[in-house]
Amino acid sequence: MLETFDVAIIGAGPGGYVAAIRCAQLGLNTVCIDEWKNSRGKASLGGTCLNVGCIPSKALLESSENYFKIQHKISAHGISAENVSVNIPTMIARKDKIVTTFTAGITSLFKKNKVKSMHGRGTLLNREESINAWKIKVDNSDATETIEAKHVIVATGSIPRQLSFAPVDNEMILDNAGALALMEVPKRLGVIGAGVIGLEMGSVWRRLGAEVTILEAMPGFLMAADEQIAKEAKSIFAKEPGLQINTGVNIKSVKVSGNSVVVGYGDSNNQEQVMEVDKLIVAIGRIPNTIGLGLEENGLSVDERGFIIVDQNCRTNLTNVYAVGDVVRGPMLAHKASEEGVAVAEMIKHLETNQTSVDEAIDFNTIPWVIYTAPEIAWVGKNEQELRAAGIAYKAGQFPFIANGRARAINETSGFIKILADEKTDRVLGVHMIGPHVSELISEAVMAMKFSASSQDIACIVHAHPSLSEVFHEAALGVDKRTLHI
Ligand code: FAD
Ligand code: NAI
Repeated sequence: MLETFDVAIIGAGPGGYVAAIRCAQLGLNTVCIDEWKNSRGKASLGGTCLNVGCIPSKALLESSENYFKIQHKISAHGISAENVSVNIPTMIARKDKIVTTFTAGITSLFKKNKVKSMHGRGTLLNREESINAWKIKVDNSDATETIEAKHVIVATGSIPRQLSFAPVDNEMILDNAGALALMEVPKRLGVIGAGVIGLEMGSVWRRLGAEVTILEAMPGFLMAADEQIAKEAKSIFAKEPGLQINTGVNIKSVKVSGNSVVVGYGDSNNQEQVMEVDKLIVAIGRIPNTIGLGLEENGLSVDERGFIIVDQNCRTNLTNVYAVGDVVRGPMLAHKASEEGVAVAEMIKHLETNQTSVDEAIDFNTIPWVIYTAPEIAWVGKNEQELRAAGIAYKAGQFPFIANGRARAINETSGFIKILADEKTDRVLGVHMIGPHVSELISEAVMAMKFSASSQDIACIVHAHPSLSEVFHEAALGVDKRTLHI
């Protein structure tokens, strides 16, 4: 007799493990299968986000920012710090401890919620129509087991895209995992790709003392961001010591030569260039991970880029098979994956209880984006170029951090907040931020948009003084051309 579940989830990243918890909370008998092993060969829940993504990168961003501040910014407060040094193995150990605490936390959450956790690769075998269930094989080095589940949620995430001529060895040529585990600061660090990972990991090692050169294929910079924000970010980053960003390049060759990596590329003027570095990070995007899932055998549909095709409710073309997170369309963000996981759990429960389907579609327009550089960049909704392209008439209000008392007090005055509102209805269409702690400030904008607020609704809200949130308030006043402090 095979063990049978209401729901089997393949993948325990933020899409899968959150779906598992919610399914169990809703009373569904749930199993979560995950194959991740950490560098010590131990099963480790949490997927990319907890093991080699969101959490470890933010831990190192914080450590490196502290070091950089003490060296370069603290003197403005009248504090002098001499002989400041950094111990990279200690910094990495702190990051690793945060990771293991959180991954172990998921094991506890699974126990608390009675989610069965199975370690190994999950493969869809076949659907037994007679019992209305899928058979799933779970393979690990010790054993192979087969289970049955009425519903399957695929949450297998993504893996780094590689350059065919620059195989990652995580010694000299690094992906995100290698970039988070260096035990000493490379003197010269090259990064291919000025996307989110390139900028965040480049920031970490630059603040710790590396000379960082980022090579980006696109002629522009941060193409997904609002143009004005991207321009501001570029001009701020251009002034950073030890950071160079070259856009419009064409990478032609990557060779490891002794203790160096030599990158041959054409620059934006089509001139041949050579970059020699001690380590090279390749961060050119991520691809959906469907390795060993059994998708071909079962006819699970994927698009031309390998993403599992789903409808707005994360349903695939196979009966009772859903897919969430990085393995499907939409932004590759942890909170998007979790939101989809919860929505699918609710949908399955509704289906089981009422025998009817329910619409749990997620509004992608109110999913926030954050890039944890210094200053941070965050946005939600539409940017100016998107509104122009869509022919939507809008008005804009903007306010700079330099005119804000709290920003002055913390000595972080770069950047601004911009609110875009519909010209006729005043409904907020997008909010774009670059500045201190905007990763936190963006939530107010998300809430405003989720509740269909107008810019004048925000203008009516009292914001604490002195606080960075007053910049958001002033930007809202600015939509109506009535800022008070500028
Ligand atoms: P994943 O987290 O990739 O998890 C998938 C899991 O499925 C993995 O454990 C994998 O081993 C397992 N798996 C795959 N196939 C199988 C199989 N057949 N059987 C069993 N198990 C399987 N996002 C943010 O929102 N904020 C951030 O600050 C942020 N920072 C990031 C920093 C870095 C360096 C990186 C690389 C990513 C970052 N992201 C961030 C993106 C975020 O990590 C992903 O969007 C998120 O992890 C996707 O969640 P997921 O559940 O879809 O997949
Ligand atoms: P990305 O898509 O953000 O950026 C990749 C960059 O590489 C792009 O600018 C692209 O033009 C460039 N590129 C592609 N091919 C190239 C080539 N051959 N030569 C030079 N440049 C090239 O992808 P990235 O940085 O790898 O991150 C993957 C995803 O992970 C992100 O899109 C994001 O969804 C997620 N992530 C989110 C974070 C956050 O929320 N703070 C942090 C890190 C990652």
